[in-house]
Amino acid sequence: MLRSCTDHGTLVLVYREAGQGLISRRRFLRRAGVIAAAVSMERAAVASGMAPPSTALDPNKLKPYVDPLPLPAVMKSSGVRPDPEDATKQIPVYCVAMEEIHQRVHRDLPPTRMWGFNGTSPGPIFETRSGQGLMVEWTNHLPAKHFLPIDHTLCGAEKDQPEVRCVIHLHGGRTPAKSDGYPEDWVVPGKSFTYHYPNRQDAALLFYHDHTMGINRLNIYAGLQGLFFIRDEAEDALNLPKGKYEIPLMLCDRFLRSDGQLEYPVSGDEKKPWVPEVYSNVMLANGRLAPYLDVEPRKYRLRVMNGSNGRFFRLSFGDLLEMNIIGGDQGLLPAPVKAKRALLTPAERADIVFDFSQHAGEKIILKSDSFDIMQFRVSASKTTDDSSLPSTLRPVERIPEASAIKTRRLTLDETMNDVQESMGMMLNKTPWHAPVTEKPVINTTEIWELVNLTEDTHPIHLHMVRFQLLDRRRFDVFGFQDTGELRYTGRPISADPEEAAWKDTVRCEKGHVTRIIVPFAGYTGRYVWHCHLLEHEDNEMMRPYDVVEA
Ligand code: C2O
Ligand code: CU
Repeated sequence: MLRSCTDHGTLVLVYREAGQGLISRRRFLRRAGVIAAAVSMERAAVASGMAPPSTALDPNKLKPYVDPLPLPAVMKSSGVRPDPEDATKQIPVYCVAMEEIHQRVHRDLPPTRMWGFNGTSPGPIFETRSGQGLMVEWTNHLPAKHFLPIDHTLCGAEKDQPEVRCVIHLHGGRTPAKSDGYPEDWVVPGKSFTYHYPNRQDAALLFYHDHTMGINRLNIYAGLQGLFFIRDEAEDALNLPKGKYEIPLMLCDRFLRSDGQLEYPVSGDEKKPWVPEVYSNVMLANGRLAPYLDVEPRKYRLRVMNGSNGRFFRLSFGDLLEMNIIGGDQGLLPAPVKAKRALLTPAERADIVFDFSQHAGEKIILKSDSFDIMQFRVSASKTTDDSSLPSTLRPVERIPEASAIKTRRLTLDETMNDVQESMGMMLNKTPWHAPVTEKPVINTTEIWELVNLTEDTHPIHLHMVRFQLLDRRRFDVFGFQDTGELRYTGRPISADPEEAAWKDTVRCEKGHVTRIIVPFAGYTGRYVWHCHLLEHEDNEMMRPYDVVEA
């Protein structure tokens, strides 16, 4: 049964990572000359406190590695329907319900209230092939009241809006606009919507998640996300580890109270509970705290996705054992990249081959910096491994810069709302409801220069398209703010080797201009682009964009 959402008195805003704290933000705002900011940030800093509240769960008091890693079930279709693009064809249809669930995150904790899909969070996995279209009937079976603290001052989450709303977006999907999960296309409990996913794109790990205007950070935090695999022949031909040797891994951090229940941090200002970022005390792998996985001494393929609201993962195995990164957001790299760490911002994916063959009988911990996430228990007995790790994977032809017909300069901003004396995020200093300013023409290529004027790193995501990262380059931030002129202060830094695959989310570091080159191939219509730090996205660091006919 539902409790009202008023039992969220506790205040949490802790576990910030070095360099991303309130102090640096405050310094930035002061330097930017915004006096009101200092007042409001002072309040936030006092309110946030720097220690976990007494109700916080201490994950170190729980016995680690007592629960097996949950492997999400594969979604089953419930029949066929005529293909909306070609009525002579039938394509599978899936019925998926968003509902409240109670799921154990650890053997010694009571079940945690979450929101999931068909009974689990993360939801069941979609398995499909390139060009194999499918339909999903998404039904909102959620309760009428939200159990996480809504901020009614945020755009789209005003008091007159229904509390519980949801709409689902397939992240990384080349999806027609009307099935893309536009943030304002939400439905209330009892309602459903049917979307069509043509999947005309390369093999990749996509994911589906809530995208509701103004509360998407809460809906996802509650558990509304799941993985979606597209396969193709080029990938099959590589003979990579598959079946039980391919492990889906959705990682996220969550703040848990000592009673095992989810807590979403609030600012302490009752009227404006929104917090700028969330870093929590517990790491979950496929929804489980410190699970283990029994593996054989052979190669495994790990399909990892960062499902956190705000945390970046820097993954490593054991004492920095070598892994092979074979792909990113939108599919395979041209060749494996040997690495000791894999950096994933929220929504980024890594395709990793790890070879346990030299570790028979050992236990290997998957970590993110100082956090232990899960344990691999390698069996002592020999096995055969007929999978391969080819030295070349899939060509990723670099798009020549000269093919771009337009270059857009777009800023990432942190702003102050004078009326509410509160901080906001924006793209190109333009609020969500302003008329559409980005209108790329279908089947043309553009360069987007993402000019980061803030003190944060932002993972920027464009719907519908895939793109390539050109470079990142330091520039004079304050000079730009004063004069509007872009003066570079460093040489272009090329993409990391593991960023050389097609991407849909890019890390825009502070103090840098990040340039991406984007072929607008696929569908015309209205889409969005936004920061995938969900707190930013919900506070208008999101803009619509239109793909238009020539
Ligand atoms: Cu992960 Cu707008 O999406
Ligand atoms: Cu952001």
